[in-house]
Amino acid sequence: MTKHGLQTTPMKSLLVLFSHHRHNTEKVANVFAEILDAKIKTPQEINPTELQEYNLIGFGSGIDSGKHYKVLLDFADKLPQVNDKKAFIFSTSGVSNPKYMAKIHTALREKLQTKGYVIVDEFNCHGFNTNSFLKLFGGMNKGRPNAKDLKKAEEIALNLKQKLEHQTEQTDKKVEKTIAETKKSKI
Ligand SMILES: Cc1cc2nc3c(=O)[nH]c(=O)nc-3n(C[C@H](O)[C@H](O)[C@H](O)COP(=O)(O)O)c2cc1C
Repeated sequence: MTKHGLQTTPMKSLLVLFSHHRHNTEKVANVFAEILDAKIKTPQEINPTELQEYNLIGFGSGIDSGKHYKVLLDFADKLPQVNDKKAFIFSTSGVSNPKYMAKIHTALREKLQTKGYVIVDEFNCHGFNTNSFLKLFGGMNKGRPNAKDLKKAEEIALNLKQKLEHQTEQTDKKVEKTIAETKKSKI
């Protein structure tokens, strides 16, 4: 509550997740959810208009054929237009490096940006992959994401939380200032 009796803006985050191959991305999402105090929902569980309630939304899945899973990309296509709403993108994949992340996130990033989202951060790490012939050899990246990967996800989430809380505080202060000035000018 502010000194003018206004309710302070609560930070409300949501994670839209589709993780099905080995539930790798779900492990990352659980770390984000804990720190950001966010709910995790699958695209099938959400009505796209529901996203209006949130001021930060994370979109994540595994990677198939160099893109986020189709379910998530199709969901992004159905989103209503927003005005500068903050979002972040995450994924786990067989191959992981910064250049590859930039490339595999492009499809989802562009869809979200077209809808008016501002992408404030992106995260990718290795995920256990038993696709196709890989399972004959025990899979690739066994044990990933590991504790180190999840620690990095934690750092990203803490940083996002800090930034967002600071911005919300600044917005509340601006509103406070405007109210105080309006009151003064009426005296
Ligand atoms: C059908 C299929 C296609 C995949 N294509 C890619 C790919 O193009 N690039 C890549 O790096 N990993 C690829 N992978 C690996 C997955 O992205 C990786 O295992 C991921 O961690 C799975 O996430 P999930 O367990 O959350 O579903 C593929 C896996 C499957 C099953």
